[in-house]
Amino acid sequence: EPEGTEEPRSAVVTIMGHVDHGKTTLLDYIRRAKVASGEAGGITQHIGAYRVPSERGDLTFLDTPGHEAFTAMRARGAQVTDVVILVVAADDGVMPQTEEAVKHARAAGVPLVVAVNKIDREEADPDRVKNELVAREVVPEEWGGDTQFIPCSALNGQGVEALLEAVALQAELLELKAVRDCPASGVVVESSLDRGRGPVATILVQNGVLSQGDTIISGTEFGRVRALLDERGERVTSAGPSTPVVVLGLSGLPEAGDEVLAVEDERKARELIERRREKSRDKRLQAQKA
Ligand code: GTP
Ligand code: NA
Ligand code: MG
Repeated sequence: EPEGTEEPRSAVVTIMGHVDHGKTTLLDYIRRAKVASGEAGGITQHIGAYRVPSERGDLTFLDTPGHEAFTAMRARGAQVTDVVILVVAADDGVMPQTEEAVKHARAAGVPLVVAVNKIDREEADPDRVKNELVAREVVPEEWGGDTQFIPCSALNGQGVEALLEAVALQAELLELKAVRDCPASGVVVESSLDRGRGPVATILVQNGVLSQGDTIISGTEFGRVRALLDERGERVTSAGPSTPVVVLGLSGLPEAGDEVLAVEDERKARELIERRREKSRDKRLQAQKA
């Protein structure tokens, strides 16, 4: 835990659910309605995460396939998600990956909000979804439990506002905090090699403020932050807690789930990275011997 003064931060949300239950459609709807609306051209960069304004405060959505991101990040010891939206198609009900998502969320101690999706479909049966989840001990508030079930359609947007409201309410209950007056730290959400710009990483800042010009290390890579871009592809000079930001200037590609740390200067960065690279060489050698 970083030292410094704690202050409120916004929640980080991941969408999970069974194949074809509507995760991508829901994210797309939210992004179109909430992120792209303020833009001239309406073109939103794909950056793996974006901020969504809500009346109760911003929400940060991780735009990666829920299970993989969750599992990869947790395997690396990174806990990034504060609230999980569990998407269940009301015409299909609880399926194996729905159950898996419930298990993931439980194991991480992350609260769920259930999006009972595809209610625009004739075959939709929201009560069936409720009954099937009750059998997995996910109990709706109206049945005496502590989980909000929000009927919605990711296709036409019906109920999506209520869903965001429920998530924001759940987040409020968590009283999430971060430290701002400390060296910046965060987690890599995704990374890729861009022909023109070199290594590009989307980072979720968790504590401190990441600024242009900062020297950072991540995994076995380091670099000086040459530029920071928000989810609209616009340059920003800094990014505080719970803010996703695209970082240019790394020496190579860190992996999703790798921690990011701002350090005092390049010498320190090289020193730390050299040690990490040695360690990973040793590990590889040992693995070869075994
Ligand atoms: P995977 O990423 O493959 O696991 O699927 P997904 O959960 O992201 O589902 P996706 O968003 O790709 O949606 C699957 C299909 O369901 C698509 O044809 C969507 O158009 C459709 N769909 C998603 N949400 C709704 C909805 O609310 N109503 C209706 N009628 N169709 C929907
Ligand atoms: Na799909
Ligand atoms: Mg999808």
